[in-house]
Amino acid sequence: MSNRPIAGILLMERFVVIEGSAIVPGEYHARISMGPSGSGRERHGFEVVDGGQPPGADAMRALRRLHAASVTVVTTVTGQGFRGVTVNAFSIVSLAPPRVLVCLGRGSEACDAVVKTGRYAVSVLSDRQEFLADRFAGRAPLVDSQFTGVKYRLTVQGMPVLEECLVWFDCKIVASQDWGDHYVLFGEVIEAGYGTGGDPLLYFDGAYHFLAID
Ligand SMILES: Cc1cc2nc3c(=O)[nH]c(=O)nc-3n(C[C@H](O)[C@H](O)[C@H](O)COP(=O)(O)O)c2cc1C
Repeated sequence: MSNRPIAGILLMERFVVIEGSAIVPGEYHARISMGPSGSGRERHGFEVVDGGQPPGADAMRALRRLHAASVTVVTTVTGQGFRGVTVNAFSIVSLAPPRVLVCLGRGSEACDAVVKTGRYAVSVLSDRQEFLADRFAGRAPLVDSQFTGVKYRLTVQGMPVLEECLVWFDCKIVASQDWGDHYVLFGEVIEAGYGTGGDPLLYFDGAYHFLAID
């Protein structure tokens, strides 16, 4: 992004150019905020949901919105080409040995692809990549199996990672756990590195945010 907003709603003109032709002319809406805390957002009163019983799906969805998280794209290679999906359920679990995990919706195409290949890479997105986050989440024009128009690099092991990310991890799945409506995929990191991005992309309350970093 060329000019960074201070806060509030930003209406951006976005043109994604793929091999010389603009495929997504038009407006792209992103609510982006920067700066110190004190957004003026309504504070919740202390509250117990669903009468103190295990929360139902609606309550969990509402609670999840307030879990501010970094945004990643999980990628893999199948016989049909590349596959990627936007994920914020990613965690670096262990430093030595290097171990991470991601959670993918059970029954999603991406989950099936990753489980089948037994491999995934995680690109932790930078603030230049919110449009890619939407594309890999199926909200904007989808990414094809060649990642046409997406800046990516291949790891030594041949996994695609997104070039403008902050950091990336190439992993082998060593265990998986069916957990609720998701699979937890435990990954052994076999290769890792930095992308060219500088600042993180965050997701909070249904919108992308940037951090103010001095
Ligand atoms: C910011 C953001 C975070 C997401 N995090 C996850 C996640 O952690 N796990 C997941 O399975 N889907 C997550 N999703 C949803 C998937 O990106 C989306 O449902 C995807 O299209 C499903 O894959 P499929 O097209 O292969 O079915 C997230 C979407 C967004 C926009």
